[in-house]
Amino acid sequence: MVDQLKGRTVFITGSGGVLGSTYVRRMLAEGARVIASDLPGHRAEALKASHGGGENFRFYDLDVGDEDQVTGIFARILADGWQPNVVLNNAAITGELLMGAGKPFPSFADTSVSDWERTLRTNLTGAFMIARQMDRDIVGNWPCTLINVASMYALNGPHHQIYEGMPFKSFSAYSTTKAGIHGLTLWLAGYWAKRQATVNTIAPGAVFNGHTEEFQRRVGELIMAGRMAQPDEIADAMLFLCSAQAGYMTGQLVNVDGGFSGW
Ligand SMILES: NC(=O)c1ccc[n+]([C@@H]2O[C@H](COP(=O)([O-])OP(=O)(O)OC[C@H]3O[C@@H](n4cnc5c(N)ncnc54)[C@H](O)[C@@H]3O)[C@@H](O)[C@H]2O)c1
Repeated sequence: MVDQLKGRTVFITGSGGVLGSTYVRRMLAEGARVIASDLPGHRAEALKASHGGGENFRFYDLDVGDEDQVTGIFARILADGWQPNVVLNNAAITGELLMGAGKPFPSFADTSVSDWERTLRTNLTGAFMIARQMDRDIVGNWPCTLINVASMYALNGPHHQIYEGMPFKSFSAYSTTKAGIHGLTLWLAGYWAKRQATVNTIAPGAVFNGHTEEFQRRVGELIMAGRMAQPDEIADAMLFLCSAQAGYMTGQLVNVDGGFSGW
């Protein structure tokens, strides 16, 4: 599609990851203005290096777990002259992120409260704080939409055996936050309905990101499509949810998982 996102000004958290950076590239190609954000670091730098010169791209350092930073984010964006009408709660502590950081995956019995709370802080409290700030600064002032990012492990349990012998695992706090984020969607959808704001959840499936052939085989057997997703296949659905064509959708969970949840 050409110019699917013309007139959309999209604010994205955690934009430097495998999916976030794909969304940024695709949204710019579809005519959106993109306000990317992430923690400072190599992912943010790579994103700025790819898009930094573009007139439709801006970047803000943002830790979604930091209440002061989140409280000020839309004021900064508005002061710089752009009005977001699409917001993506995309930032998360993911298994891939922990593996990349060389963090060991504790067993459930060895999971500390601080590890658990760190994941909740980013994935769930961060999403709440972004939504609350959107309510304060944007909702009701102009039509807008929020997309919360869940996972195929939000409403389905993992098949634990596929992680045996793998360098990464699924972890309990992740699934818990991803189920919780859809609760936030459902709560907000009715709350915002009379203020021209919609909110939906997208639940991506397993996205290929350099996984071993053995892992691809194991997870592929659980997916109707028989394989992991390419990031662009998730972006296709994300772009639709960001577009004006999704205007009559609110309070929904959209699975983009090759049929994992459909058996
Ligand atoms: N990749 C998948 O297979 C998959 C599947 C289902 C759902 N998802 C979800 O999609 C979203 C994007 O996933 P991804 O694959 O791009 O993950 P990723 O690990 O590649 O990227 C996550 C991004 O979040 C950022 N982040 C982490 N903590 C943050 C914080 N406190 N503040 C701001 N940013 C922070 C990281 O810096 C990183 O850029 C996540 O919500 C993830 O849970 C991914």
